Amino acid sequence: MIDVKNKPERYLVTSALPYANGPVHIGHLAGVYIPADIYSRYLRLRGYDVKFIGGSDEHGVPITIKALKSGITPQDVVDKYHTIIKESFERFGISFDIYSRTTSSIHHETAAAFFRKLYDDGKFVEQTTEQFYDEETGQFLADRYIVGACPKCGAENAYGDQCEVCGSTLSPAELINPKSTISGSVPVLKKTSHWYLPLEKYQSFLEKWILEEHREWKPNVYGQCKSWLDQGLQPRAVSRDLSWGVPVPVEGAEGKVLYVWFDAPIGYISNTKELLPDSWELYWKSSESKLVHFIGKDNIVFHCIVFPSMLKAHGEYILPDNVPANEFLNLEGEKISTTRNWAVWLHEYLDEMPGKEDVLRYVLCANAPESKDNDFTWKDYQTRNNSELVAILGNFVNRAMTLTWKYFAGKMPAVGELTGLDREVLAEIPNIRKELENYIETYKFREALKKAMDLARLGNKYLADTEPWKLLESDRNRVATVLNVSLQICAALSIILEPFLPFTVIRLRKMLNIGALKWDSENFIEEGHQFSEPELLFEKIDDNVINFQTDKLAKTKTENLISAKKAVPQKSSVTFDDFGKMDIRTVTVVAAERVPKTDKLLKLTIETGIDRRTIVSGIAEYYKPEDITGKQVTVLLNLEPRTIKGVESQGMILMSRDVSGKMCLLQPSEIMDNGSEIG
Ligand code: 2FM
Ligand code: ZN
Repeated sequence: MIDVKNKPERYLVTSALPYANGPVHIGHLAGVYIPADIYSRYLRLRGYDVKFIGGSDEHGVPITIKALKSGITPQDVVDKYHTIIKESFERFGISFDIYSRTTSSIHHETAAAFFRKLYDDGKFVEQTTEQFYDEETGQFLADRYIVGACPKCGAENAYGDQCEVCGSTLSPAELINPKSTISGSVPVLKKTSHWYLPLEKYQSFLEKWILEEHREWKPNVYGQCKSWLDQGLQPRAVSRDLSWGVPVPVEGAEGKVLYVWFDAPIGYISNTKELLPDSWELYWKSSESKLVHFIGKDNIVFHCIVFPSMLKAHGEYILPDNVPANEFLNLEGEKISTTRNWAVWLHEYLDEMPGKEDVLRYVLCANAPESKDNDFTWKDYQTRNNSELVAILGNFVNRAMTLTWKYFAGKMPAVGELTGLDREVLAEIPNIRKELENYIETYKFREALKKAMDLARLGNKYLADTEPWKLLESDRNRVATVLNVSLQICAALSIILEPFLPFTVIRLRKMLNIGALKWDSENFIEEGHQFSEPELLFEKIDDNVINFQTDKLAKTKTENLISAKKAVPQKSSVTFDDFGKMDIRTVTVVAAERVPKTDKLLKLTIETGIDRRTIVSGIAEYYKPEDITGKQVTVLLNLEPRTIKGVESQGMILMSRDVSGKMCLLQPSEIMDNGSEIG
């Protein structure tokens, strides 16, 4: 809760700067930008001084790789995506006070000055290590620029930091046959020196500051920090050998830039400076300001450990008061993936679903991954729209408005004597508001939204209990009172829903013919006030709209499968003699049975034309013993015998296998003599 006595003078709210190497998707919105926007809008409504800072993160290796692949410059890449991202956020009503970028000159200057201060104060340690170097192009190679075979699973084209096939974390030195992706040459190790922030020196400060003084942080954030601290912190390099980024402002550091994770969080400072050239320091350097970082869980270490250590090392800045990181949002049961195009892209949604910005804001907040990963499904989107926004909120407002127009010519009816029920219902407005405040201030936005919707639920129940439409003949005064109470609820909704559904609230206020009300207004609408014509706040979403979206995802899946198939790399060449060593023949399966206690194995007896022998084959998922008995198949006869589950297997049945793992037998197109050679 905001302690009024110790109310901060001002709030500085930041949201992670997304990489400008692709558009933004629903995972970004749910994890970071919607909660940050709700929080900022709420603080503004409460009358606090708040600045909400955003921007694009435009440095880093992935941007240079994207540029290289597309044959354009890194600047072209970030210009393109910064524009798309910025526009998507604007169209979703993310109410940044500034949305800038880390390629701005003010950021380059700010980040360089920050580094230089730490450098001059002797806060870095310089270390020389060996890094891979491309001799052909004369440059050091970031891990992502080196590919080779994965030492864990053998997949070709694993990156120097990770194998995307088996998911193993790698270092470039582990790759088998490493190659530079820039020139294709074999990289060599070469000495290079970099500046390191010795995080171990900040260990005890961080332990006290986080583990003792910020026990209130969300359990997922606190837990991750504790685990980092328990493992013991290590020095972290803050520079890289790269040409794209903020040049290291030290003589002799040509060809070196600040590591993207060093400059990006300084972007919050640069962007505040750009917004408030004369007063930015009030927000960053005054103990009366409160700094809150909204991020996703993959950014926790940088915002809770690395950036605070940088700020501490600098010495002039405040530290974050809270870092309410969210977990991840999945899409239809699968991890959102830019490379696999498995996402709902915001710019596409905005074009395909015009006027439905608040529906997505609602669904993503109601289902936000606040304490665990959550799943977005189009079915759930439809249900929440139809059964919550339409049936609860839209329905209540619409009933109150249409009854008022029908019976009172669209004017606020006079309130008569209040019953116990009326008083109870009216008393719920400040109660709900208080609970909602509590939830927002503890970063529980799902609960807060549920609370706000409870007021609409209450309104519906009140109308159902009082049934004003039945009383028109008998008690017009009672009808007037019930509608007056209902319309006061509508007005209260127009305030408390503003942080969540800003577009809807504008339409609701227009209908109510009122301006923006104060957060804790008591008396909302005067008797006799003229309302505007009612209109529906939400409309039902039909199955065909949802099917369009799910079909689109199904198409993506198929495309991924096709490209994955294409992507199976050709193995390295073999000589004709090598091939000739393999004795491959057509044979007949004369008997087949399952290998006991296994799911996949069949024990086959085959007639080879030379002998009868046993082969154990992992095809039981695809072929029953009776399906395969009597069939001609293809066999590698001279594979060294192996004992599998206690049975000696003398050869291998040849199968075709697709990327999904599906297998089928290779059979001759005509019956051939057993023992016929293949080659
Ligand atoms: O994870 C990301 O998308 C980073 N670009 C976030 C940076 S946040 C901040 F430090 F700028
Ligand atoms: Zn692998």
